[in-house]
Amino acid sequence: MSDPLTPTPQTTSPMRITVIGTGYLGATHAVCMALLGHSVLGVDVDPTKIEALANGQVPFFEPGLPQKLREALDSGRLRFTTDLDLAAEFGDVHFICVGTPQSAGSDAANMRYVDEAFTELAQRITRRALLVGKSTVPIGTAERLTERVQRVSPAGTELELAWNPEFLREGFAVADTLAPDRLVFGVDSDWARQQLAAVYQPILATGTPLVVADLATSELVKVAANSFLATKISFINAMAEVCEATGADVGLLATALSHDTRIGGRFLQPGLGFGGGCLPKDIRAFAHRADELGVGQAVAFLREVDSINIRRRRRTVDLVREMADDDLAGKRIAALGAAFKPNSDDVRDAPALDVARMLYLEGATVTVYDPEANGNAHLVYPDLNYADGLIEAVTGADVVVLLTEWQEFRDLDPADLGRLVKHRRVVDGRHALDVDNYRANGWEVRSLGRPNHPVSNAVAQG
Ligand SMILES: NC(=O)c1ccc[n+]([C@@H]2O[C@H](COP(=O)([O-])OP(=O)(O)OC[C@H]3O[C@@H](n4cnc5c(N)ncnc54)[C@H](O)[C@@H]3O)[C@@H](O)[C@H]2O)c1
Repeated sequence: MSDPLTPTPQTTSPMRITVIGTGYLGATHAVCMALLGHSVLGVDVDPTKIEALANGQVPFFEPGLPQKLREALDSGRLRFTTDLDLAAEFGDVHFICVGTPQSAGSDAANMRYVDEAFTELAQRITRRALLVGKSTVPIGTAERLTERVQRVSPAGTELELAWNPEFLREGFAVADTLAPDRLVFGVDSDWARQQLAAVYQPILATGTPLVVADLATSELVKVAANSFLATKISFINAMAEVCEATGADVGLLATALSHDTRIGGRFLQPGLGFGGGCLPKDIRAFAHRADELGVGQAVAFLREVDSINIRRRRRTVDLVREMADDDLAGKRIAALGAAFKPNSDDVRDAPALDVARMLYLEGATVTVYDPEANGNAHLVYPDLNYADGLIEAVTGADVVVLLTEWQEFRDLDPADLGRLVKHRRVVDGRHALDVDNYRANGWEVRSLGRPNHPVSNAVAQG
């Protein structure tokens, strides 16, 4: 197979596609659809975002996407607009990629944006077309919206609806879109399946597995996948809690478990846990929806998965406080990381920022440094200090706490770092540092789920 990230626009049936909502998911999808050879119109209600994209600027950090956006714009197959009338007129297949954040004061997904996008587009469509939901939604949404869009659209039942859940990971969005592990088509008719097969033809031609399903199953696939991943992360973090009470070492435990091929090591790294714009809100919305459907007990464990995850944040604060002589007031804390994970500038429900905020609320002077997310973090928590570079963040620090495992932080030289801080004390919230090397350079190191004086890695591996 040729490089999946530089596909030749080989589609045998170029289509006219719109992508409604050009955030992390939609902007990537629009670019990639154009790279596959389709004519694409990206639409958003935010004119600043549309102007940036039209000028070749990606309004968020995603490795590789700026180059792909430029390629797609240069091909002449990708345009952006805020004009929904134009979109309704232009598209044969419309992908809806708007947000489904958690509702204020409830675990339910806020469906306002999805409902509006489907309804307003449907009202403008006058001919046969396919509306394809990509947003992550509660089960039953597609069925509910099918009735609604066919009622409000001049096209009536000529307007069909499908669901095509998206599994891309921020940080790998282009690769995951162009070379996904699998495609899922939730469809009600063979015509809808054919439309989606035509859109994805170059990807299917590479042998990508395809699951064709009913609408409800396609909605469930996405929340089930995220629930499984969240559960695996919280499982190892629950073991970390047991380790903390017994002197066992969760790092060694995870390594031993990961050698079992039935378990595997992915999503089994102990640490500060998950966050971001998907996993936390998706498992909460799923549990909420299951309650509504009368099957809440089946996924009641997801509430525990959520609680374990949140408890890791508080525990990280405890470790920092212990290192700061049991009192955070007036202490200088260098918080390394703000994004919910490396290679992203996304701070939605970011564990790192939550920890930084809790440290600040206990009276610490917190200086945050993230290679890409300082700007977004500042918008959410303007009270924290933000450093332009690592040196500024750590200079004079009483405790350094690693919160997001950027490569820049993994690569730090503990000897160099030691010359900048006030005390050589570090909390490794992500099990990302070479503990032996830090200790050899005079650092006190604490990590979640590991004893204060663990067996050295060398002995453990031997
Ligand atoms: N970000 C990811 O990694 C990812 C991965 C898989 C699935 N998802 C799901 O995809 C959906 C979108 O997520 P996101 O991270 O891209 O969100 P986002 O907030 O980055 O983007 C949503 C965009 O939709 C726009 N919008 C809102 N209402 C609109 C309307 N009526 N018409 C046109 N545009 C409108 C917003 O202005 C915004 O630009 C969510 O349901 C999310 O759960 C996200």
